[in-house]
Amino acid sequence: MVAKELGVGELAERSGIAVSALHFYEVKGLIHSVRTGGNQRRYARSVLRRLAVIKVAQRVGLPLADIARALDALPSGRTPTVADWRRLSAAWKQELEERIKTLTQLRDQLDGCIGCGCLSLKACPLRNADDEMAQQGAGPHFD
Ligand code: FES
Repeated sequence: MVAKELGVGELAERSGIAVSALHFYEVKGLIHSVRTGGNQRRYARSVLRRLAVIKVAQRVGLPLADIARALDALPSGRTPTVADWRRLSAAWKQELEERIKTLTQLRDQLDGCIGCGCLSLKACPLRNADDEMAQQGAGPHFD
């Protein structure tokens, strides 16, 4: 017979996530449990899928608050269906691409700082991201 609900130890074992992390996720509202008469936590089996989504989202680099917001936006806080996951993963891919673009720009700007040392508010694109002179390329532009 298959149990309908999982204890925290079994959930940790089956998900590969430490009990302490499960408690943390619960405190943050990412997963939910019910309490037995003996005050032990019991989790629905669907929490395993929810945890899989959380782990993938964390691997992508999303903050827990963003993950919680995405999960909360699902109807009745349900565990993501296949369709939900397609939509979430597509949105998160877009976020990842934007972060890659930003990091690539920062890396390229850092290239200009290497060997420069000016750290100028006027010239260094990393000191002042909105500086117009930075649009002319990394490195000092004033003598
Ligand atoms: S230190 Fe960044 S451009 Fe000089």
